[in-house]
Amino acid sequence: MNGISWHERWKNNRIGFHQKEVNPYLRNYWHRLNIERNAGVFVPLCGKSNDLNWLWQQGHSVLGVEISPIAVRAFFDENDITMKETESPPFSVHQNGGLKLLCGDYFAITPEHTSEIDAVYDRASLITFPPEVRVRYAQHLSHLIKPGCPMLLITLDYTQHEMEGPPFSVGEKEVHGIFDQHFSVEKLESKDALQENARFLTRGISRLFETVYALRRHST
Ligand SMILES: C[S@@+](CC[C@H](N)C(=O)[O-])C[C@H]1O[C@@H](n2cnc3c(N)ncnc32)[C@H](O)[C@@H]1O
Repeated sequence: MNGISWHERWKNNRIGFHQKEVNPYLRNYWHRLNIERNAGVFVPLCGKSNDLNWLWQQGHSVLGVEISPIAVRAFFDENDITMKETESPPFSVHQNGGLKLLCGDYFAITPEHTSEIDAVYDRASLITFPPEVRVRYAQHLSHLIKPGCPMLLITLDYTQHEMEGPPFSVGEKEVHGIFDQHFSVEKLESKDALQENARFLTRGISRLFETVYALRRHST
């Protein structure tokens, strides 16, 4: 963990990262990854993201992992989706058919949990962690997914010393540094997003780019 209490953040509703709408890069780029409709999609550090619901509506089965029980319950409540809660230590499992959220630590996920996973969606997950944990995050992910597995990754890139993370800045060089060993990495778009992000502008940063990547787990 990175010293930030996510439980406190959720308790105090300090969730500026949460988007009311479905992420526009997800809408724009998901279909470019040629993922089958019935594919299983893993969403690490999912929060209560509306992207989960969008992926489910595309026909995918969805597996999210999120450490905050507040976030997990809010996702189902706010979307009016009924769910069944069961215990499967170290996780509590919240499920409605093919939509399953595991409440617990991402680093406790094992390949057994992800045996039905064919694709990964990461928006604001990698950038949640400080540098050393980001390396662990990517290594762990590479053990959880099958060869050939595609992934859509959305990061932020700003001048790190101008603002304390999270979210942390993760530039293109670092994305390659972290993922190249196990993944191919293709940059799809990088957009100047400073003016649209008032919450960062007020924190005094001078540049902010949102960057979208398509990754694919190497086959060997
Ligand atoms: C920046 S938010 C992004 C949430 C989501 N991806 C979105 O786009 O709204 C990061 C989330 O990761 C959760 N989190 C932090 N560390 C975690 C961990 N080790 N395992 C599972 N979830 C974690 C936090 O509670 C928080 O909801």
